[in-house]
Amino acid sequence: MSQNQLNLKQNRGKIIAIASGKGGVGKTSLTLNMSRTLAKQGKKVLILDGDLGLGNVDVQLGLTPSKDLSHVIAGSAKLQDVIMKTPLGFDIIPGRSGSDTLPFLTNIERHNVVKELLEIAQNYDYILLDIAAGVGDEILVFARFADYTALIATPDPSSITDAYAVIKMLKLRHDITNCKIIINQATSEVDALRTYEKLKIATDRFLQIDTPLVGYVTQDTNYMQAVRMQKLTVDAFAHLNIARLIENVASKL
Ligand SMILES: Nc1ncnc2c1ncn2[C@@H]1O[C@H](COP(=O)(O)OP(=O)(O)O)[C@@H](O)[C@H]1O
Ligand SMILES: [Mg+2]
Repeated sequence: MSQNQLNLKQNRGKIIAIASGKGGVGKTSLTLNMSRTLAKQGKKVLILDGDLGLGNVDVQLGLTPSKDLSHVIAGSAKLQDVIMKTPLGFDIIPGRSGSDTLPFLTNIERHNVVKELLEIAQNYDYILLDIAAGVGDEILVFARFADYTALIATPDPSSITDAYAVIKMLKLRHDITNCKIIINQATSEVDALRTYEKLKIATDRFLQIDTPLVGYVTQDTNYMQAVRMQKLTVDAFAHLNIARLIENVASKL
């Protein structure tokens, strides 16, 4: 990293890649709920929808952006121009739906999108990157410049195995070791901590890296209920424990 980029790092907000081994673990919805929580506390938050196969941050918010990342890549817009304010107090950079993910990713790196994002990060406290599940190239593009990658895992054994596979791939193939863990959809605190321990024991023993726990969120029927109400859980059920758990994770990010 150049001296210029290092200087930028001192003044900018935290950049956190939100990843998972397996899809459907709650990346997008937790990212939105945590962003909303931080925005309510007066923090400036930007979500970049990096799940390029399925740009669903805007969909979950019921927004229809006129411009997205694809315009940046096509050269018809600057990254700054596609930032969209939301009524929820945080901003988003909409992703795009499409199949040409790979050339798209190479272009992200080639077109200085990362450099521009590092500059934009000076205007925010947090930048959350909602990235695609799995060990594909998408995670790499983002994990390389994020301050750390927060892996979301659930107690489902395949989710634990897949999260471990991502951490292993990042370390062995790319020497990226700054990963943290968020447990979602646990049945209880005990279940969450037990799930985290399984992952931690494996990363300690087989990869010799420390993967701290950011926090956990339990499986909650109100979570789905909020989606049906087209609201975020932390707004629809602000008085319930589920909102406290999400706030706790957000405050430790
Ligand atoms: N803690 C939770 N309790 C109940 N349902 C949840 C919880 N977290 C996520 N979900 C549900 O799981 C589904 C997948 O969530 P989503 O955020 O789209 O996952 P991802 O972005 O990882 O694919 C959604 O229907 C969401 O409402
Ligand atoms: Mg998602």
